[in-house]
Amino acid sequence: MCGIVGVIGTRPAAALILESLHRLEYRGYDSAGIATLVNGHIVRRRAEGKLANLAAVLQHSPLPGTIGIGHTRWATHGAPTENNAHPHGTSRVSIVHNGIIENHAELRAELEAAGQEFSTETDTETVAQLVDLNLQRGMTPVEAAGAAFKRLEGAYALAMIFAGHPELMIGAQRGAPLAVGFGEEEMFVGSDGLALAPLTRRITYLHDGDWTVVQRNGAIFFDAAGVEGQREIKLTRLTGAAIGKGNFRHFMEKELHEHPTAVGDTLHRMINPATRAVALPHLPFDLASFSRISLTACGGAYFAALAGRHWIEEIARLPTDIDVASEFRYRNPPFDAGTLGVLVSQSGETADALAALRYMKEQKVPVLSVLNVPESTMARESDAVLDTLAGPEIAVASTKAFTAQLTVLACLALALGRARGAIDAKREAAMTDALLQVPAAAAQVMDDEAPIKRLATRIAQARDVLYLGRGSCFPIALEGALKLKEICYIHAEGYAAGEMKHGPIALIDPAVPVIAIAPSGPLFEKTASNVQEAAARGGQVIVFSDQAGAAKLAGIASQTVVLPSIDPFVAPILYAIPVEVLAYHVAVLKGTDVDQPRNLAKSVTVE
Ligand code: AGP
Repeated sequence: MCGIVGVIGTRPAAALILESLHRLEYRGYDSAGIATLVNGHIVRRRAEGKLANLAAVLQHSPLPGTIGIGHTRWATHGAPTENNAHPHGTSRVSIVHNGIIENHAELRAELEAAGQEFSTETDTETVAQLVDLNLQRGMTPVEAAGAAFKRLEGAYALAMIFAGHPELMIGAQRGAPLAVGFGEEEMFVGSDGLALAPLTRRITYLHDGDWTVVQRNGAIFFDAAGVEGQREIKLTRLTGAAIGKGNFRHFMEKELHEHPTAVGDTLHRMINPATRAVALPHLPFDLASFSRISLTACGGAYFAALAGRHWIEEIARLPTDIDVASEFRYRNPPFDAGTLGVLVSQSGETADALAALRYMKEQKVPVLSVLNVPESTMARESDAVLDTLAGPEIAVASTKAFTAQLTVLACLALALGRARGAIDAKREAAMTDALLQVPAAAAQVMDDEAPIKRLATRIAQARDVLYLGRGSCFPIALEGALKLKEICYIHAEGYAAGEMKHGPIALIDPAVPVIAIAPSGPLFEKTASNVQEAAARGGQVIVFSDQAGAAKLAGIASQTVVLPSIDPFVAPILYAIPVEVLAYHVAVLKGTDVDQPRNLAKSVTVE
């Protein structure tokens, strides 16, 4: 989603902004732009497509100035053209925005009636025109921006600069995050701490509804009611070092190879190998006190949460509700006293997940979030956080964060089970042993990609693919299908294997590969029956299983990928890896933009 950077200092701003925009690239975007003040006048450069295009424009037409704002745009209102690229504005004000101004149509009509002339289709331009009109009516920049914020509905993070004011930048946050960085005689704003990390370690995260007046030597903060207040400056733990691909061709490939470490580091934080017991970091509540769990997440994180529900109900015997956050937030679900809300998110910035979190908090439900970005908005607003120690994930398609989420949720299920007396120490020890075997098994999968690469040549020809799974591996079928959609642009569906005969089996046809996730375990025979049903109808079934499972399905499966034998409890964590690796190789064969697939954003900060 859109990324924002702003700089007021003594050095040329455009170069600093461009560098920070690169650090926001992971969020996904389709155009970019920068505006600075040159001799008091607003000058901007914009380009469709990647930052390399903007860099080329800047090379040709450099942008001097020591104050400026920059933006990577993920189109919502208006096509991803240069004309719709941010910054937007007039000769008086220039604005960058992340979010959606929901009352833009109404504001536009009002502003046009007042004589303001629009030049783009974007919702953002209404903010610029509103501030501009306020300025024309004699307000100071601070008054003009403050009055405009009162008129805006929807979600926004904003940064703006003003002609003739080389030491002034105004920022605001409502529903989309904005951070303010404190340098030496320099100040910065940015969408997240990662963007600002090379510029400063001292960061203030705005509270929701806040706006800020930033000058070269500091910033003042106002809440939504316009009351000035103090905001804490924190030392960020984020590294300013550039995050590179190493020797890998894509970030996704690098991140796939980090699966063993991501799972291993996360387990190291959650399990005491000496006692073979789960040892979660300190939580501000007693896990034994809950009688229900409410799980919520979006996209791939929701699939991890689905596996989490399976584990929590089976291991801890604790009733668990689950919903995608975009539905949950508008369902107004009632809660029993004794409910623990559990949110799962890689970025910690996903708009729907954040709204779900806030809804739970309004309902007085304690919230525990499973997050990969420790300084995210969700981390700040949750009652407790369990970190997935996957490290920065740059590719839009989530991989190592997904297995780390599964790992945390498996450990949470064990901790809940023990707290409730649903499992004894012996069972817990056996289950932690199973978890501790995953990193080595994951490394084994990543050491031999050849069978998956061979399968990729076949899947790359397909127009549609069906993924089947059962029990805790049903979410892995969903994950496999999502990855094929996201990065390979192949229509793929994940089904609970037992549901096939209730409709989807009509889709079986030799041209539609059916991939079954079938590890040995209590549900293997059931999945095997569904595999036979598909094969009997001419389906070309590909099986992901272990040695024993592959032997049982020999003669039925048209192709088999043999994975290390593993305890069925942890199979979802291991089997997530080959489905992601498969999608990666298919995407490479198809020549798609693996790390930044079309239309997608890493951090979905709008609804
Ligand atoms: C996964 O590959 C996707 N990119 C996407 O579905 C993602 O999981 C979803 O947008 C949730 O993001 P979050 O984990 O940052 O909240």
